[in-house]
Amino acid sequence: MVERIKAIEQEALGALGSVNDLTSLDQVRVRYLGKKGLLTELTRFLGSLPEQERPRFGAVLNEVKTKLEGIIKDKKAALENTALGQKLKGDALDITLPGAGVKRGKLHPITQVMDELIDIFQRLGFSIAEGPEIESDYYNFEALNIPPHHPSRDMWSTLWIDADKLLRTHTSPVQIRVMEKQKPPLAVIMPGRVYRRDADITHSPVFHQLEGLLVDQNVTFGDLKGTLTAFLHSVFGKDKKVRFRPSYFPFTEPSAEVDVECVMCEGRGCRTCSNTGWLEILGSGMVDPNVFKYVKCDPEKYTGFAFGMGVERIAMLKFGIDDIRLFYENDMRFLRQF
Ligand code: DAH
Repeated sequence: MVERIKAIEQEALGALGSVNDLTSLDQVRVRYLGKKGLLTELTRFLGSLPEQERPRFGAVLNEVKTKLEGIIKDKKAALENTALGQKLKGDALDITLPGAGVKRGKLHPITQVMDELIDIFQRLGFSIAEGPEIESDYYNFEALNIPPHHPSRDMWSTLWIDADKLLRTHTSPVQIRVMEKQKPPLAVIMPGRVYRRDADITHSPVFHQLEGLLVDQNVTFGDLKGTLTAFLHSVFGKDKKVRFRPSYFPFTEPSAEVDVECVMCEGRGCRTCSNTGWLEILGSGMVDPNVFKYVKCDPEKYTGFAFGMGVERIAMLKFGIDDIRLFYENDMRFLRQF
């Protein structure tokens, strides 16, 4: 009997010696130590032996089983280790290969210019306020000294929602909302989208304005000129000439339009400036006392200046773009250039 066990042991050791993958290792385990394995069968046979032979036979059988189990366990660990090593080798990154590259997004050119304009005024001490794009007649017109049926309403091609509601035609209504809440001294800029029934290469039904308002005691037209000149020099360069031209807006008195020397021809005259040598950039003026009355601010005590400009126009001049629609077409070939 013992010889039989030893023979099986030799056979098993031989099989294990030539095993070099996990599947064959498991096959060997099943063949000798599995439920129906050769050594397991012999254990069952134990009961049929004469009683005095059982201990010796059992001991030898156990010894062989333990030995084989040990070898199989070690072999399994070793094979698993090599398998892992090979897998890691196969998966290894080739860090010398060039990367795929991360494409970075950019801010829209209008956002870039708006941010730049806002930044200039913030450095001059202005804070930021915003208002709704759907406005009432009162804020968009009436409180800005534009009564119903006043001819100056023709200055804005208004998109009406109903008899009282409209899409704001300018950011000036935010001046009223700010002054209703805040008492002077105040210095505020008001950026935002505005709407007009207008569309050609220099007009879009939706565009952006930046509005400004400064109110305090003893604010003069000189303050307006100084502030806006500093602003325009910062946007277009210190070497550019700036001029103030008398104009009319219902909410300012006196009113002025502000021009900068043409950035395309340096004042010589070209298509962009209609041969005038000047580019119109801003509307501005001293806040009309009637506007102060609407927001219950004393016009005898306070004076102020206000201004408004189109952001698309400034962006077109800065970047040399001749068609406003390019800003809204989302053509990546255009947008990537900024
Ligand atoms: N709201 C005017 C427009 O859209 C621009 C403007 C002119 C704003 C003069 C002002 C101002 O604040 O004082 O045409």
